[in-house]
Amino acid sequence: MQIADLDFCVPEDLKSLVEIEKACFAVPWEEDLISADLNGGGTSLYLKASFKDVVVGYGVLGQNDESAHLMNIAVLPEYRRHGVALQIMAAFDILAHEWLCRRMYLEVRASNAVARAFYASLGFVYSSRVKGYYNDGEDALLLAARLPLKL
Ligand SMILES: CC(C)(COP(=O)(O)OP(=O)(O)OC[C@H]1O[C@@H](n2cnc3c(N)ncnc32)[C@H](O)[C@@H]1OP(=O)(O)O)[C@@H](O)C(=O)NCCC(=O)NCCS
Repeated sequence: MQIADLDFCVPEDLKSLVEIEKACFAVPWEEDLISADLNGGGTSLYLKASFKDVVVGYGVLGQNDESAHLMNIAVLPEYRRHGVALQIMAAFDILAHEWLCRRMYLEVRASNAVARAFYASLGFVYSSRVKGYYNDGEDALLLAARLPLKL
């Protein structure tokens, strides 16, 4: 496993994050939404993973009462299966602990087998199905894990 540098995102990371979104999702997050968050407009926390100053992945964590909400995680295709997402999740595990959260939850596309395998490896289990959660009508699966994660 290569060790990535982890750091909080800054507004100057916008271009990199938009590129990651386009490379990773058929329906990427809107640039304006990411920009507003990076410029302090939101409450969620953005963490980036880099190799030699190249941002190769990022994750977004929010908080909802006693639960941490994994809102996004993505790694550029050419950097996958090197433990990058695992490192981001390890950092989120620590942050969620500091926020006094007891569990973490997330929504994932029912068809996203790779992400579901990734989450299963961390101890996330099926909680419920949300019909038509995504803009294109696909259902989301709500997954949840007790903290600490199985890292
Ligand atoms: C899901 C994603 C973030 C995983 O990133 P990654 O850096 O490749 O993941 P890691 O290398 O840290 O994988 C950790 C473990 O997850 C599981 N895993 C990851 N990718 C997998 C795959 N393609 N098939 C099966 N299991 C997989 C494995 O258990 C893996 O451990 P191993 O490599 O020792 O077997 C990445 O595939 C991605 O960006 N996908 C597109 C965006 C996306 O769908 N995000 C989730 C939105 S809900």
